[in-house]
This record gives sequence, structure tokens and C-alpha cells, in this order.
Amino acid sequence: MVGRVQQVFYPLSLSAKILARIHTLPPKPFWVIIMAFVVTENCIKCKFTDCVDVCPVDCFHQGPNFLVIDPDECIDCTLCEPECPANAIFAEDELPEGQEHFIQLNAELAKEWPLITEVQSPLPDADDWNGKEGKLDLLER
Ligand code: SF4
Ligand code: F3S
Repeated sequence: MVGRVQQVFYPLSLSAKILARIHTLPPKPFWVIIMAFVVTENCIKCKFTDCVDVCPVDCFHQGPNFLVIDPDECIDCTLCEPECPANAIFAEDELPEGQEHFIQLNAELAKEWPLITEVQSPLPDADDWNGKEGKLDLLER
């Protein structure tokens, strides 16, 4: 996973932890190919927002009951993935079966929804909804 970042020519020789403290990274150059991380179904109706706290480049956007990652901003640092209590974040090439459509959904909704840069309280009943299947129909836009 860590090696992924090192596979591209981009000034990311700093460790991920140092990167997390730097909020002044330049925009991703057009010639850089970095796969994005993706928020998947289990975030719906939970929205714990722990992920937001660790993202060094502020690429999370929030809707009423779901967060998405802007694939144009994500630098693939991997920091958000282990932070999610709902295990809803995956690398684009490691998505669980049946969650592939969330790649397009993240890209689409990131352009519509506002940035979120600070942790918020989870949604009411987040713990009850954590792990439930079939939540896509409950996504509010
Ligand atoms: Fe932000 Fe997660 Fe992408 Fe890192 S992997 S830049 S924390 S969205
Ligand atoms: Fe959603 Fe997990 Fe972030 S539930 S808001 S992706 S911490």
C-alpha cells in the first residue's frame, strides 16, 4: 500500500505522517497518475467523519448522510482508510465486490457537495446502521 505512492513521479518522498501535517501541497499535476480512495456504501447513514481529520489535502465532500472523496484531489496517502469505524473506505483497485459503482458516485458527488474539513458528530443511530447492507437506496442527495 505504501509503495503505491512511490510508484509515481511526484514529490512524495516524505513519509505519510509528515504529509499529514502539511496542508500546503501543490495541486496534483496533470501528468501524475495516482489512484484515488473511495468511500463505499457502509458510510451511508453513519458518517462518522473520522476520515476527514487525517486527510492532508482536504478531499472529502459531504452530503446529508454520506461522504465522498474527490478523486482529482486524493493523493493516495492511505491515511483515511484505517480511520473509518465503518470500514467504508477502500483503494480504488481494492473495492469489495459490488461496490465498484461507488467510484463514479464519489467522482460525481464530489463536484456537487461542499468540502468538509473538520470532524463532526456521527449521524444519529450511526452505530445501529454500521454494517447494514442495502443502504444505497437511503442515500440522500
Ligand atoms: Fe485524503 Fe484518504 Fe486520499 Fe489520503 S487517501 S488523500 S486521506 S482521501
Ligand atoms: Fe463515512 Fe467512515 Fe468517513 S463512515 S464519514 S467514511 S469515517
